[in-house]
Amino acid sequence: MFLGLDLGTSAVKAVLVNADNRIIDSKSCPLSVSRPHQGWSEQDPESWWQAADLAVRKLGHSHPDEMAAVAGIGLSGQMHGLTALDASDAVLRPAILWNDTRSAPQATQLDTGHPAFRQVGGNAVMPGFTAPKAVWMAENEPELFRRLDTVLLPKDYLRLRMTGEKVSDMSDAAGTLWLDVARRDWSDELLSICGLDRRSMPRLVEGSGVSGQLRAEIARQWGIDGRPAVAGGGGDNAAAAIGLGIVTPGDSFLSLGTSGVVFTVTERFAPAAESGAHAFCHALSGSWHQMGVILAASDAVSWLCEVTGLDVGTLMEQMAKTDPAATDLMFHPYLSGERTPHNDADARGGFFGLARHHGPGDMARAVLQGVGFAIADATDVLKEAGARPERLMATGGGASNHEWLLYIASVTGIAIDLPADGDFGAAFGAARLAMLADGASVADVCHKPDIKFTIEPDRALADRLNPARDDWQQIYQLLKAQKNRHPIE
Ligand code: XUL
Repeated sequence: MFLGLDLGTSAVKAVLVNADNRIIDSKSCPLSVSRPHQGWSEQDPESWWQAADLAVRKLGHSHPDEMAAVAGIGLSGQMHGLTALDASDAVLRPAILWNDTRSAPQATQLDTGHPAFRQVGGNAVMPGFTAPKAVWMAENEPELFRRLDTVLLPKDYLRLRMTGEKVSDMSDAAGTLWLDVARRDWSDELLSICGLDRRSMPRLVEGSGVSGQLRAEIARQWGIDGRPAVAGGGGDNAAAAIGLGIVTPGDSFLSLGTSGVVFTVTERFAPAAESGAHAFCHALSGSWHQMGVILAASDAVSWLCEVTGLDVGTLMEQMAKTDPAATDLMFHPYLSGERTPHNDADARGGFFGLARHHGPGDMARAVLQGVGFAIADATDVLKEAGARPERLMATGGGASNHEWLLYIASVTGIAIDLPADGDFGAAFGAARLAMLADGASVADVCHKPDIKFTIEPDRALADRLNPARDDWQQIYQLLKAQKNRHPIE
């Protein structure tokens, strides 16, 4: 029996998987995000631990025998978050999350002043990544930064609590931008640019390697016999890929979670920094991937629910009464700035074309189309970088919305496969990494799920949406040019 734990942005999920790769059950515990200032996004690492602990206990409560038999644990989590610890491993400040854009000035300064980030780190420096967050801390909280002893990624903080070990895996470590991504080792040069060195960084293992053993006390509290090994695990996207069997070059997935991701396995380390594509290690040794990331996918839908006071079901019912191909109302989903392709923390969302007769249903349609356009922009970047995803496997909460998938298939021109019912998310991938750490082979464990059905691009729909996408792209460029003339303080 294997346990997968995924530390998401909105919840921690624990899943029990048996040795035949079948999910026994899963439990989640919610997390909240604090946004004390515009562009800030923080969580208290203690809340991660409390939620993880509770999710595992709930799972153990329903399945005590299976929990007792857990032989390995895998971890996955939201990437890039800066978790700052002092010399006694106490948390120095709330973790600064992947969708926090406060370090945009520091990111620009690192990107323009230090070409090594693109050459060695393989990526344009964006405020979402960990390196500029640390520089922000050094500049704005110098007292705290002086006490900084260790930087951990979110899931690796859970690992510290579970095993007492400070370890990260290659896929998540690449997202700090302190990794020499081709060599799969910390880069002394990139660390020293940020006033750090490898003594502050966790030890590195591959995602399918062993990072430590569960502490005896926690094993007892969770009702696990013995002290199972904890695998390196992966950043949530790499872990989700493992769960979906996306392991061979060219294999690709689309994730519609809080963020939106198009992910492709690449033959080798394939940086394409100038286009805003991310190039990171995969969670398997000798493997890399490229991804395009948009910051608000389901998050844009959640935002619309919040401002209209309607739940998703009601919004979708209202949307169903509108013309699916209407483009009189358009939406930019840049509610938290944007990464791929714009690398623009100051980008902002907006509706264009609002009229007196528009209601929440029209706005919902514009939101789904707008996120679809943004996913198509991110996919184009991967195509230009040579990744050429041929079909996309859909995952994440938003993948249950078939109309959304039809928009995305139509504007990207790429067929989207929907896995048969089952939970193929990052927690499942983390459990698979635990199986690999336990000695199973990639061929035995990382197969692809059965496909329930495929959503093919709809040409007629594409013919109506594509001209609107051109306008939608131009509106962004116009707004950006205007902002450059009148910068916001
Ligand atoms: C990837 C990224 C997001 C988070 C979401 O670069 O920032 O997908 O990992 O959890």
